[in-house]
Amino acid sequence: MKALVTGGGGFLGGVIVRMLRERGDQVRSFSRGEHPALGVMGVEQFQGDLSDRNAVIKAASGCDLVFHVAARAGIWGSHHDFYQTNVVGTENVIAACRSNGIARLVYTSSPSVVFDGSDVDGADESLPYPDRYEAHYPATKALAEQLVLGANSPVLAVTALRPHLIWGPGDNHLVPRIVAKGRAGKLRRIGTRPNLVDTVYVDNAAKAHLLAADSLYPGSPAAGNCYFISNNEPLPLWEMVNRILATAGVPPVTRSIPPKLAYAAGCLCEGLWSLLQLSGEPPMTRFVAHELASAHWFNIDAARRDFGYKPEISIEEGLALLRQSFLAGQY
Ligand SMILES: NC(=O)c1ccc[n+]([C@@H]2O[C@H](COP(=O)([O-])OP(=O)(O)OC[C@H]3O[C@@H](n4cnc5c(N)ncnc54)[C@H](OP(=O)(O)O)[C@@H]3O)[C@@H](O)[C@H]2O)c1
Repeated sequence: MKALVTGGGGFLGGVIVRMLRERGDQVRSFSRGEHPALGVMGVEQFQGDLSDRNAVIKAASGCDLVFHVAARAGIWGSHHDFYQTNVVGTENVIAACRSNGIARLVYTSSPSVVFDGSDVDGADESLPYPDRYEAHYPATKALAEQLVLGANSPVLAVTALRPHLIWGPGDNHLVPRIVAKGRAGKLRRIGTRPNLVDTVYVDNAAKAHLLAADSLYPGSPAAGNCYFISNNEPLPLWEMVNRILATAGVPPVTRSIPPKLAYAAGCLCEGLWSLLQLSGEPPMTRFVAHELASAHWFNIDAARRDFGYKPEISIEEGLALLRQSFLAGQY
């Protein structure tokens, strides 16, 4: 089998690629940059931007299956940039599947597509999309997910996975951000209640992609559906943050600020960053204030039922592996 992985040089994409190579599949990666680690694994690399339809069509040529993992992530940036990569890029991936006669597409979505700022306690995939979003990332990921699911047909089977808060060695988003802020003493709990959140160790999230792909064909249970993916071990958010900090030898977060103050700070920061065109990300946004103060954990029975997903690496085991990566000087 030959798989195209968009964003194969990224955090999640890199582990999907490694697992595909370990079982002997041929892999091609598509992204803007060149990623030397992929060359070492024997992965063919096509360079280009997702917003360039011809480049994506060319990259998919000769492939049997596509994992569309690449996206613009983050809490800040222009709507245009998020839209071009996440929505136009996904339209181009669908077009590339169609023009190359590819029958299977696995799309990496995000649980943030259903987040409206309030608590989500054990919800399943029947949870609707909200009417409005507080950031361009979830808004554009939701549009992309709907495009992908709408493209499911008798000749192209598609499925969308929603892994929640992926972490582990090699993480270039969540872990380094938490640890850098923790080391600088800049982290504050938002509120004091033990809001439960799901997270997922990166290898579990990657394995879910392979399992979903292996059981995907036109008319199969996963075709046309989306799935929450987690470690199925919800923990109070600040306990999880403190456990990640501990792997890096950083003291736990103890000080807190009221949720309403965090939200007001988010409004103020967004206003200032927009008005003054400040560079970098604001330290707080409305979306982040709501995410950190609310519960968000999910029911993963559908993924278990339709393609046999089960988290193989527990949070405890994952934290031990993360600790090793800190000791090895990865961060
Ligand atoms: N990390 C999480 O907690 C999390 C949670 C839920 C869902 N997800 C989803 O999981 C996926 C992977 O996330 P990740 O954390 O692994 O992100 P990542 O490490 O930032 O990887 C994304 C990859 O996409 C490529 N890319 C970005 N923009 C591109 C463009 N315009 N054209 C071509 N390639 C582009 C990047 O490579 P180049 O820079 O070389 O182009 C990068 O390697 C995303 O779809 C994200 O929305 C992540």
